[in-house]
Amino acid sequence: MSEVELREVGVDYKSLGRTVTAIDGIDLKIPDGDALSIIGPSGCGKSTLLYALSGLIRPTRGSIKINGGELSGQRRETALILQDYGLFPWNTVFDNAALGLRVRHVHKDEINAEVEKILRRLGLWDMRDRYPAQLSGGQRQRVAIARSLALNPDLLLMDEPFSSLDALTREELQNTVLEIWRERNLNGKNSSNGGSGVEPLTIVLVTHSIEEAAFLGKRIAVMGMDPGRVIKMVGNNGMGEVEYRNTSAFYNRCAGLRGILKDGAKEVVGVE
Ligand SMILES: Nc1ncnc2c1ncn2[C@@H]1O[C@H](COP(=O)(O)OP(=O)(O)OP(=O)(O)O)[C@@H](O)[C@H]1O
Ligand SMILES: [Mg+2]
Repeated sequence: MSEVELREVGVDYKSLGRTVTAIDGIDLKIPDGDALSIIGPSGCGKSTLLYALSGLIRPTRGSIKINGGELSGQRRETALILQDYGLFPWNTVFDNAALGLRVRHVHKDEINAEVEKILRRLGLWDMRDRYPAQLSGGQRQRVAIARSLALNPDLLLMDEPFSSLDALTREELQNTVLEIWRERNLNGKNSSNGGSGVEPLTIVLVTHSIEEAAFLGKRIAVMGMDPGRVIKMVGNNGMGEVEYRNTSAFYNRCAGLRGILKDGAKEVVGVE
């Protein structure tokens, strides 16, 4: 379970004797099994917010609660995927994917079974003996996703995970993430009826891309800057099917988001 609640969260950075307020006054409730996209201009504090959610940095003000308990540092069930993949070049695909489990001293047989399952799921099994340098950007990002999923997280945080990929690879990976989110949440529902016992997966995705935010967010938090804050929460009912991309509802959603971002930018520079 991973119900997240942020109250009046603010983060200041100290830099060269100055204090920079990266984010401030962030109130956000992220229900278990949610898919939340966060979008906003460069420098508005999206990454800062995500790092605070991951427990990597501690907020200067306010509180972050997960399942009712104050977040104090990193938790095992949270996975964070960054843009630069974080793969070790000297490890094979298999070993990179297994890394998180090995660090946790999981039994070898269990690691082998789990990693095989996930590499097959992500279409990487045939590449398991390759090194990151022998993979494309999209394949590397898949390995990073595999490594995170191997840990069976209940909260998956992603910071611009697909931004360096070409359009088609990017769409393909977006579809994969959507599929995994759907599977986990359908299974999660079944488990309450004595089903597979799989926990719901909550996803928080930071992106620059309006289309990506609208495709992968059941809700979309639009951020403004100075200080970084949420200026609008947008519900996105149509989200959930791969075909959503091709609907007029999707097109309208993107146009709406573009408008909110533009208005937010005007507000910041004080243009009427
Ligand atoms: N370690 C740091 N020290 C000082 N200031 C920082 C630090 N990290 C970030 N900042 C500042 O905090 C603000 C928010 O940065 P952050 O990286 O969270 O923005 P972002 O929305 O993720 O931007 P982008 O879209 O470009 O990735 C920026 O003004 C940035 O310069
Ligand atoms: Mg960032």
